[in-house]
Amino acid sequence: MNAHFAAVARRHGVALEDTVPDSPARRLDRLCEILADQTVNHPISAQCAEETLQAARAGVPFRVGCLTDVTVDLGEYAAEQVYEQYTTEEHLSWACLISDQQQTKRQYACQEYQTGERLFEIEATTIPDYYALNARIYQQTGWQLATVSEIIPAQLFFTCHSRRFFPVTTFMRKLEQDYLEEPDMGHDVAGHVATFSIPTVAKLMQHHGMARDLIYQQRDQRLAAARDDEHAARICARADELLIYAERIYWFTVEFGLVLQAGEVRAFGAGILSSPGETRFSVESREPNRIVVDPSREDHLMRLVTTDYLISEFQKTYFVTADFGLLDSLTPERIVRACEKAARLPHFSWRDLAPGDQVLSVGAVATSVNEKYYRLLARQPMDDCMLRTAVRNRRLLRQPIDPMDDGQVLEIDSIWSAPPPALPAGLLEPDSHDEPAPQEAPMRPLSFVADYL
Ligand SMILES: [Fe+2]
Repeated sequence: MNAHFAAVARRHGVALEDTVPDSPARRLDRLCEILADQTVNHPISAQCAEETLQAARAGVPFRVGCLTDVTVDLGEYAAEQVYEQYTTEEHLSWACLISDQQQTKRQYACQEYQTGERLFEIEATTIPDYYALNARIYQQTGWQLATVSEIIPAQLFFTCHSRRFFPVTTFMRKLEQDYLEEPDMGHDVAGHVATFSIPTVAKLMQHHGMARDLIYQQRDQRLAAARDDEHAARICARADELLIYAERIYWFTVEFGLVLQAGEVRAFGAGILSSPGETRFSVESREPNRIVVDPSREDHLMRLVTTDYLISEFQKTYFVTADFGLLDSLTPERIVRACEKAARLPHFSWRDLAPGDQVLSVGAVATSVNEKYYRLLARQPMDDCMLRTAVRNRRLLRQPIDPMDDGQVLEIDSIWSAPPPALPAGLLEPDSHDEPAPQEAPMRPLSFVADYL
């Protein structure tokens, strides 16, 4: 087994002897040093420091950070980190993944992210001890860790965010496992934690969580006055819809955000940087679109919340934040307003380039906003995102605007943020949905489609 581990370590440029964790005594000394540091943004009180040390000394597993009065109830999803139980293989798996990630992070991650990695000692070759990591994150940002057993429901995940708790798993993928569906520490910790050194990103995460709380509150108020089951179902469906739109802001920034720095594109999204392959792809590939956004501008914010995406492959469009400071404009109230507006607007597929986009690079996958309608009517191949967006937009245009009891009625002309594209004849007629007339729809040569599908 040792020979196998040594060979794996060599392949990833890791020294096997560096993957042996510190002794419990050494880790306690280090924790003591960290807790005592008062030259930080959020100093830890003497009492909290003492209680934390006592718990660590007594071997109590780390569960939920308790450096403030605020906490979060994880219910059935609660987990714990029992540091001593990590195996040699798990520490080696962490070290190899970190080594691979570092190759691309050093080249493509923004400066702040790289500073965060050093600050939180993410580059270390052993799995982080959550007692120490939690203290360090709190000291810099006021956020804390909450250990979870698996992917938790979105409502609980983002409620944690609104209270400045970041849910993290405690398991590590198998040695040299490239991809896994469930996030592990390789994503939660090695991808996300460094972004906590960027105050505007941490604040956006909290604001996004608070925006979701507002949507839930609004839903519950409306449910209390629901006329019947059907009305209640519509209220719930509308809230779910708004949550999807709010999540797009999180997706295109916290998970898959790029940023402009000194004229260069750099990555800060955890979804990008935890994948060495997507890190290089997001910055260098000619395939995806890259669009500059200033989230303080209303039209740019609307572009984010009205853009659909898929999670199963590398992204087709990346949004490049012009400056981290601009993320401050994304208050919870503004996010909710944008989502409500998005419910009445046509949406973009992840390949679309739209009028008004500040395009940094046109990807090989780029399509015009009309392409999805052409393909739908001509029954040509299209990915799920294009199909979903095209069908949604057509339904929207054929249905009366639903004001959802809030008394607002929009004129059909005002739902377009840009002039509407010239839709193929017949698109707006209700009867045309089931039986589109392919002969009337503009056709694309099949070779053009095959190029990128
Ligand atoms: Fe994530």
